[in-house]
Amino acid sequence: MREDANPIPVSQSRSIMTELVFPTDTNHHGTMFGGTVMKYIDKISAIAAIRHCRKPVVTASTDSMDFVSPIRMGEAVELEAFVTWTHRSSMEVYVVVRAENLFTGERRVTVTAFSTFVALNEQGKPTAVPPVMPGNDQERKLHDSAPERHALRMKRRQERFSTADSETTDDDRKL
Ligand SMILES: CC(C)(COP(=O)(O)OP(=O)(O)OC[C@H]1O[C@@H](n2cnc3c(N)ncnc32)[C@H](O)[C@@H]1OP(=O)(O)O)[C@@H](O)C(=O)NCCC(=O)NCCS
Repeated sequence: MREDANPIPVSQSRSIMTELVFPTDTNHHGTMFGGTVMKYIDKISAIAAIRHCRKPVVTASTDSMDFVSPIRMGEAVELEAFVTWTHRSSMEVYVVVRAENLFTGERRVTVTAFSTFVALNEQGKPTAVPPVMPGNDQERKLHDSAPERHALRMKRRQERFSTADSETTDDDRKL
């Protein structure tokens, strides 16, 4: 399917989500919990990945995430996600998170992140997805740089497998 599938424009997967930050979303500094931001990132990325391939997906991994500025109570948090590149069954999703002071209109980027999602078939096995057709300079830049990030992820995955194997006890293997 992969080779002859029509490329999907980034506009099909581009997804936006806006939330208001309430006291229950914040810590004792009055800034948003990192875990809550991560949950939103996972959710909007999954929507973008499903819009790209129109199949069920699972999160395979998330690259490191840098929180460059805090998000404060009462601000709006806006997440924008789209699929940048695909391999066979996997899709790289880019997310940018912005905070907005609703009274002044000041907006700033608080987090950017890349995640990888894998499409599954009816048997729950990885299945091929169509390629991406970038449409503007930002989309092309992210598309062209993706194979390098993919190679790093595959290297990291290999290293994690070795660590997980060395952590597995005989009792774990019996389960
Ligand atoms: C992700 C998962 C489907 C991969 O299955 P698998 O049996 O290892 O399959 P494969 O080795 O054939 O890999 C399938 C694809 O996943 C990609 N992949 C697997 N692990 C990955 C990782 N850690 N990071 C990035 N991509 C990964 C592979 O590169 C491959 O991509 P490709 O088809 O585009 O080349 C499987 O590990 C899984 O189900 N993990 C749990 C997912 C989950 O529960 N997520 C949280 C809730 S949604």
